[in-house]
Amino acid sequence: MKAAVYYENGSPDVLKYEDVPDPTCHPKGVIIRVLAVSIEGGDTLNRWRGPLVTRPHIVGYQASGEIVEVGAEVTHLKVGQKVATVDGFGSHAELRPVPARNCWPIPDGFDPKYAAVIPVAFGTAHDCLFEFGRLKAGETVLVQAGASGVGLAAIQLAKRAGARVLATASSDARLEKLKAYGLDHGINYTKEAVPEAVMKITDKKGVNLVVDSVGGPTLQGSILSLGYRGRVSMVGQAGREPMVVDVGSLMGGNRSLSGVFLGAEIATDRAHDMIQTLIDEAAKGEFKVVIDKEFPLSEAAAAHAYIESRQAVGRVLLIP
Ligand SMILES: NC(=O)c1ccc[n+]([C@@H]2O[C@H](COP(=O)([O-])OP(=O)(O)OC[C@H]3O[C@@H](n4cnc5c(N)ncnc54)[C@H](OP(=O)(O)O)[C@@H]3O)[C@@H](O)[C@H]2O)c1
Repeated sequence: MKAAVYYENGSPDVLKYEDVPDPTCHPKGVIIRVLAVSIEGGDTLNRWRGPLVTRPHIVGYQASGEIVEVGAEVTHLKVGQKVATVDGFGSHAELRPVPARNCWPIPDGFDPKYAAVIPVAFGTAHDCLFEFGRLKAGETVLVQAGASGVGLAAIQLAKRAGARVLATASSDARLEKLKAYGLDHGINYTKEAVPEAVMKITDKKGVNLVVDSVGGPTLQGSILSLGYRGRVSMVGQAGREPMVVDVGSLMGGNRSLSGVFLGAEIATDRAHDMIQTLIDEAAKGEFKVVIDKEFPLSEAAAAHAYIESRQAVGRVLLIP
């Protein structure tokens, strides 16, 4: 099969399009013929500095496809079925072996391109908002990096739950595009300090919850944007800088900081069912899955470079 692979960490141009051996099917797994790869923020971070679990390494958490082989011990999936899949690596390929547990059936009529985008971004946003963030209707939420995959999902799910939604982005043009998905107030962090802008918008009350997938110095700004008893769901390090926070700044306002890692719970019934519900709701049109651009799998390097140019609002897909 063909795959986008790399032999060393680095910038997008480490990605090569090569022939690699076809995968074999684990008794508890399936093999899919990949229809769409959703390039996750974590895929670009792994390419930059993650471990090369295989050599050459095929990066990638998330892809949808059609099942072409089913392991001997798998009874609930069948050849020909279309599924969304998640695993630690291996999405950037024509064929993908994946544990049966990490497959979510795609409802008839729902485009697998959209299904490919849902499990990690929407599942993570849902956990940040509700499971760990305890968001309630009427509360105010700040989504850092609102134009990111996780951010766009968080904006829509928070709005649907009856929250007032603030978000940050690196340009006015990016913030403008977020209004269609439920953004109430945008903050261009290149022009104004986020905590000050939040306090102005909220009449000095601060927000009840921040979803922070940027980390680094941004995380301190998230804490300083909180109101009394506010919570931060800290979920990523897209900014690629060390996390430095003054934990003392949490105490005075009875504020809390929670780490969120979907991967730690994705195999639980709770998370599995939550993701299936999100796929089914997206299929019914209850929220939008935003695809910014598609590239052929052979152009994975260009697709990663495009993401890192910070132009994308929504997901970038690879099509084998
Ligand atoms: N813990 C978990 O379970 C979990 C699950 C999913 C994702 N994540 C993590 O969450 C983070 C975001 O993932 P994602 O898929 O939403 O990412 P994404 O779609 O690629 O978006 C990342 C966004 O971060 C912003 N950003 C700020 N500083 C940046 C920098 N130095 N380089 C690149 N982008 C920067 C950019 O928006 P602006 O230009 O507007 O600032 C960009 O759009 C990643 O660190 C990922 O690993 C964690």
